Amino acid sequence: MNYKPVQILSLGMSVPDTVITNDDLTKILDTSDEWISTRTGIKQRHIANGNENSTLFGVNAALDAMKKSGIEGIEVDAIIVASSNPYNIYPSTACVIQDAIGAKNAIAFDITVACTGMIYALEIGRSMIATGKYKNVLLVATDTNSKFLDWTDRGSCVLFGDGAGAILISKAQDGVDDILALNVNANGSMGKFITMNLTGDNCPLVEPATEGCHKITMNGKEVYKFVVQTMPESIMKCLEDAKLEPKDVDYLVPHQANLRIIEGLQNRLEFSDDKVIVNIDKYGNTSAASVPIVLTEGIQSGKIKTPSVAILCAFGAGMAWGSAVVRLREGLK
Ligand code: ACO
Repeated sequence: MNYKPVQILSLGMSVPDTVITNDDLTKILDTSDEWISTRTGIKQRHIANGNENSTLFGVNAALDAMKKSGIEGIEVDAIIVASSNPYNIYPSTACVIQDAIGAKNAIAFDITVACTGMIYALEIGRSMIATGKYKNVLLVATDTNSKFLDWTDRGSCVLFGDGAGAILISKAQDGVDDILALNVNANGSMGKFITMNLTGDNCPLVEPATEGCHKITMNGKEVYKFVVQTMPESIMKCLEDAKLEPKDVDYLVPHQANLRIIEGLQNRLEFSDDKVIVNIDKYGNTSAASVPIVLTEGIQSGKIKTPSVAILCAFGAGMAWGSAVVRLREGLK
């Protein structure tokens, strides 16, 4: 088959206006700015209010990306939404976004891969373009973790924030592929270390109704151990597949889960600070939205210059993890 190359056309993001600082959290938890900052790098996070949800931020991130590349809804052929805590299971968030942006020709579906959702979406989207059947594919990652946190569990609730990011990809007209290499991975045997159950209720004729548990639980230490082993391997494999050395890459754009994990990757790659794009201090861990948010903001702020080559990487519940080496074209917005 004659595979079609992929261009990264534009980026988008949307976060709630409401900001909760570490000091704010001390009003409801036995915690401190000092503990949270030194262990994670997080200073604040954006949190949805009662009228806001992951669909809203997903729509706004999608519109942001579409505006920047001038692609109209009618031109979008597929919408893939990565979300682990969607407002609706059905209709899917992708279908709601399809309607909201007027993408009536697009197929639309959601995927659930927790924090690695955007790397998986990129793999699926680029494979769809590669077949030649789809031209413009809109990838959206959106999570409002705040609505599914146990706000009495100081070990998990301080880590997360809400928001959405989008990446619009298209068949490259010039034949140059912006995805230089990509790998995605999964290890279900580690699943118990980060969970969010949708237990639902029993049929009252069978069992008494139970209280559903829809809260995120996490064994931070086990996740940490797993990630510091697997993430560097994934990145190095990606570089090898792209036939590049770390020195050939301009930026590391990592999932924003913990500053210490990011610094470990930075040391492994021997990257200077200006090559590592970090915004965990402002947003916390926004799950699947984390990578597209930090990428979009990195470009907007001028921290990421184009043209350049970047490593995107993410990990999270599943366990699932993955990396991509991508070309960021001159003028990418
Ligand atoms: N404030 C104050 N103290 C706290 C807090 C808090 N917010 N949270 C925990 N503590 C306490 C604990 O109770 C414990 O106290 P003890 O020693 O008296 O028992 C102490 O601090 C140490 O707790 P640990 O959990 O051992 O802290 P650790 O150093 O492991 O750091 C952390 C915890 C930051 C969560 C770290 O393990 C981590 O970042 N892990 C990786 C998490 C991650 O990357 N997740 C990404 C995936 S998310 C997804 O996919 C949805």
